[in-house]
Amino acid sequence: MSQQYFLGIDTSTTSSKALLVDNCGEVAAVASSPHTLQIPKPLWSEQDPREWWEAVSASIRSVLKKAGIGGESVAAVGLTGQMHGLVLLDGAGEVLRPAILWNDQRTQVQCNEIHQRIGRQKFIQITGNVALPGFTAPKILWVQENEPDVYANAQHVLLPKDYIRYKLTDEYAMDKADGSGTVLFDLRQRDWSAEVLAALGIPLEWMPSTFEGPEFTGKITTEVATVTGLKAGTPVAAGGGDQAAQAVGVGAVQPGVVALTVGTSGVVFATTSSALVEPEGRLHAFCHAVPGMWHFMGVMLSAAGSLQWYRDTLAPGVSFDDLLKEAETVPAGSESLQFLPYLSGERTPHPDPLARGAWIGLTLRHGRGHLTRALLEGVAFGLKDSFTLIQNAGLSHVWQVRASGGGTKGALWRQILASVLEAELVTVNTTEVAAYGAALLAGVGAGAWTDVPAACATAVKVTGSTCPDPTKVEAYRRGYALYRELYPALKPTFSKMIG
Ligand code: XUL
Repeated sequence: MSQQYFLGIDTSTTSSKALLVDNCGEVAAVASSPHTLQIPKPLWSEQDPREWWEAVSASIRSVLKKAGIGGESVAAVGLTGQMHGLVLLDGAGEVLRPAILWNDQRTQVQCNEIHQRIGRQKFIQITGNVALPGFTAPKILWVQENEPDVYANAQHVLLPKDYIRYKLTDEYAMDKADGSGTVLFDLRQRDWSAEVLAALGIPLEWMPSTFEGPEFTGKITTEVATVTGLKAGTPVAAGGGDQAAQAVGVGAVQPGVVALTVGTSGVVFATTSSALVEPEGRLHAFCHAVPGMWHFMGVMLSAAGSLQWYRDTLAPGVSFDDLLKEAETVPAGSESLQFLPYLSGERTPHPDPLARGAWIGLTLRHGRGHLTRALLEGVAFGLKDSFTLIQNAGLSHVWQVRASGGGTKGALWRQILASVLEAELVTVNTTEVAAYGAALLAGVGAGAWTDVPAACATAVKVTGSTCPDPTKVEAYRRGYALYRELYPALKPTFSKMIG
């Protein structure tokens, strides 16, 4: 039998990637095409869905060419992408307005309104979450209230990757992981909440059918086959939002294995086998892309993004390696210098768009190495906040943390993270993990592996391990205790720093 491939497509904020995986889990080729981002007003963040489609079709053509294969060798396609973005289509499937993205912050008023209409506690009980401006539900309400003409013509609500699905297959469908990220889901039932939709005046008929991650939702159309080189009739699996697909891509598919991503943002992701909810809604609680599983997630908005900003702004031209070498000579705890990583506001555990970044405790003794090390430690402390919330919410037995993202490439930051979290950190062989996870989901749908854990066991291998340094743990415990005091003390001041 000739070699078969699975194609993972990731429509992220910055680009659309296409990645081909063979049935041993080896990556055959990757291609990427960029997107542009529009910020037409302060707090807004938008993209044209049609630009995603152009980028996806270019990436599919390119990845087939790079791998030197024809579309008939692709057994199935799996989709992933940026979560929470609102795509509104009319009855003919035409885009009605630019997509409102996950990082758009315009809808605080609508979030308050949702809590008022449904009751905050009841909303948490049904959806597993509080309404946050990043999520989809308040965005729909915003269009309802601010663009009534657009709203009057709407007939379909999709998320970014599901717009790509619609273009590929002509079907309106969504996976359950991303569906739950709209906060219009009944988390336990793994499907739309008629009660929440009715309270917000959103017709149930606008919402697509929902599917488990490996399930097939449609087939590549003849027209798309001509444009992309894929074969007409190739099945397209549901896939998952980028965080759930990334968890599959690093093999975090069972309770006890936590996925830690230190990219521009930082994410702590923990699988749960029932629909657990953090009572105050301080953690996101969504469906996993693994059928019948759920997950908790804590999201820090500026993780490695803080280091990037610091280097570009305060040490332009200095390499990350040189900055990290200086930081290595500074003792753990940075001689009581603290850094708050809230450069883009924060989500977990302080859902506050007005939170600000800061170094606190500067003295004449502190040099650039201290600033760098305090920043690395501050990000680790912020991630510990999510880690601790997850442990307190019923997942006390964490036996492995699987780390990915640019921030975990350097040994110093990995060592700080392991010692602050007091957990073993492992790295894995996979890269482009969201697209890779989507390809594995497609492979499971096509029967190449019996289920998602089996796919991960074959494909994802541990490549390295970092254990906590017992000589530093105490200094970090003291540092974390200080860090915990700073946001509550500064919150009233942050709220006055507008403009
Ligand atoms: C998760 C989230 C981001 C986006 C962007 O809640 O908002 O991960 O999916 O990639």
